[in-house]
Amino acid sequence: TIRSMLVGVGSYLPEKIVTNDELSERLDTSDEWIRGRTGIGQRHIVSGSENAVYMASRAAQRALDFAGIDPVDVDAVIVATSTPDQVFPATAVRVLGDLGVTNGFGFDVAAACSGFIYALSMADAFIRARNAKCVVVIGSEVYSRILDWSDRGTAVLFGDGAGAVVLQASEDPGERGVLSTHLHADGSTGDLLYIDGAIGRPDHTGHLRMNGREVFRHAVAKLASSVDEALETAGLAASDVSWLVPHQANIRIIEGVARKLQMPMEKVVVTADRHANTSAASIPLALDEAMRDGRIKRGDLVLMEALGGGLTWGSALVRI
Ligand code: ACO
Repeated sequence: TIRSMLVGVGSYLPEKIVTNDELSERLDTSDEWIRGRTGIGQRHIVSGSENAVYMASRAAQRALDFAGIDPVDVDAVIVATSTPDQVFPATAVRVLGDLGVTNGFGFDVAAACSGFIYALSMADAFIRARNAKCVVVIGSEVYSRILDWSDRGTAVLFGDGAGAVVLQASEDPGERGVLSTHLHADGSTGDLLYIDGAIGRPDHTGHLRMNGREVFRHAVAKLASSVDEALETAGLAASDVSWLVPHQANIRIIEGVARKLQMPMEKVVVTADRHANTSAASIPLALDEAMRDGRIKRGDLVLMEALGGGLTWGSALVRI
């Protein structure tokens, strides 16, 4: 068997932090409302030269350093983002340039908040098909660019940042590696969460629009069925999972999925309180934190899940 091993993690958060209290000075909202409804206490927001490419390259370099891999040995970079700095060249190709990789390939994936799960699944498929031996998978997002800062219903929910993992082929994986990934999309729910924008459409604002209540209603059920699917495929039970590393949209969605899995919150990695929702970046940001502080160790079974605009959703099960 050939399998993809998760051998490195890295992340980058913008220097500037914006607290709920600071938002309350500009919007009719409060720290109490935001914390109570979402679990979010603050978010990082880009400034100066920080952008999607800059954050992605920093996160990727840190993940390669973690793995002890030289950038020349990278075969591919896949970046999940809905907020690229340019339509093309792809963020991933700019990152290849920053890392100094000249013999690899790269492209971006747009699947909103599920982007990291989509990108991870594709990277794993390239490795298992022997099209690549080492793939850097990145989520990098600058949602501060696409928020309607006058809409309190959405402006308080998101933050900027990037996270990355390195996947490497192993011919002798034992029990370790990417065990299963599952992707879903339902175009009939496209108007619940979308960006009103496209290049060359002056009639569009380019702002994020959301029906929060409806998204919430879909989230827990779809995420729970997707994690069940991942466990079933791998022949494992929820009680085998060492850590749940969910997309960090909202603490109430995270708690809902944990409850369905009967997982205590001590086994769930939560960063929403400090990072808010960084969309495709939130899972690798959380993974990076929990692997560096020693919570997630070699041999641990990690379950990831995400849902976002599309709607798109999915899960991944990885033995570290
Ligand atoms: N501060 C104060 N009041 C607010 C704010 C705010 N920031 N935002 C909305 N309100 C008000 C509304 O105007 C409304 O007032 P009204 O009753 O006078 O009309 C009241 O609060 C309730 O509004 P709802 O939207 O019904 O509030 P709800 O309890 O549904 O919470 C929230 C809103 C937090 C967005 C919730 O629906 C949610 O978590 N949805 C999931 C969506 C999500 O997380 N999306 C992220 C992207 S998708 C993903 O990543 C999964």
